[in-house]
Amino acid sequence: MEGSSQYRDVVLVAGASGRTGKWVVSRLRHYGVPVRALVRSRERAGDFGEGVEIAVGSLQDRRSLEKAAGGCGAVICAVGSSALFGDSSPSEVDRDGVIRLADAAAAAGVRHFGLVSSLAVTRWYHPLNLFGGVLSMKFAAEEHLRALFSRDGRSYTIVRPGGLKEGEPLRHRLVVGQGDHMWSGWTCRSDVAELLVLSLWNPKARNRTFEVVSLKEEEEPQESLAYCYDGLS
Ligand SMILES: NC(=O)c1ccc[n+]([C@@H]2O[C@H](COP(=O)([O-])OP(=O)(O)OC[C@H]3O[C@@H](n4cnc5c(N)ncnc54)[C@H](OP(=O)(O)O)[C@@H]3O)[C@@H](O)[C@H]2O)c1
Repeated sequence: MEGSSQYRDVVLVAGASGRTGKWVVSRLRHYGVPVRALVRSRERAGDFGEGVEIAVGSLQDRRSLEKAAGGCGAVICAVGSSALFGDSSPSEVDRDGVIRLADAAAAAGVRHFGLVSSLAVTRWYHPLNLFGGVLSMKFAAEEHLRALFSRDGRSYTIVRPGGLKEGEPLRHRLVVGQGDHMWSGWTCRSDVAELLVLSLWNPKARNRTFEVVSLKEEEEPQESLAYCYDGLS
């Protein structure tokens, strides 16, 4: 364990086999937080490293989601659609799947829900919406999450990144915004993961929705990304 945190509850990572999800698992392990990885296929998911529990389930199967979320303190959701139709479509994954997962998590007693969303989710006219209305689907899920996890002792954090890139975390200075006014920009998947992991114990992250992009291409090593949560309303 390289880092350390006071957070000791199990965290369910949905989309753990995906590119951002893998970073979420890695950053949770970095801080010594117990992880349960939700995957559709144990074989396809590969190896998450020592101590990571695996839960097999899919966003279409509510019972598998409730079972996976049982005993977890938080969920970090990094699922994403990849096909126009079927179980991996925007309506099935980014809207209905995330809503089903949030409902199952609340029913199972989960207290915090972190979600990877996207820049421009409030803009129905954005060209990305040509892919199955993906941005509008994400916004519908966001709205559901905000309503459900801002009450009864629960909390949420919604991160809206720009175009996702690979790369190590904490290598770039980040800029945050609120109200979906940013038009473009990119964000490292690893930094998105880091922000959602920090949201587990940073009180300033509770019930916040924000956009985040990297300030510039050049690297500028960061000790922490906690500053992103200062000043959010
Ligand atoms: N690409 C960008 O530039 C960009 C920009 C902003 C926001 N985003 C959003 O950021 C998020 C993460 O993106 P990414 O590129 O890291 O994702 P990714 O690598 O495509 O991973 C997607 C994950 O979702 C899981 N998934 C899909 N359908 C599922 C279902 N029906 N049940 C359970 N799991 C399901 C996949 O599982 P399997 O391995 O089983 O398929 C995979 O683990 C997505 O929501 C994406 O829309 C992307």
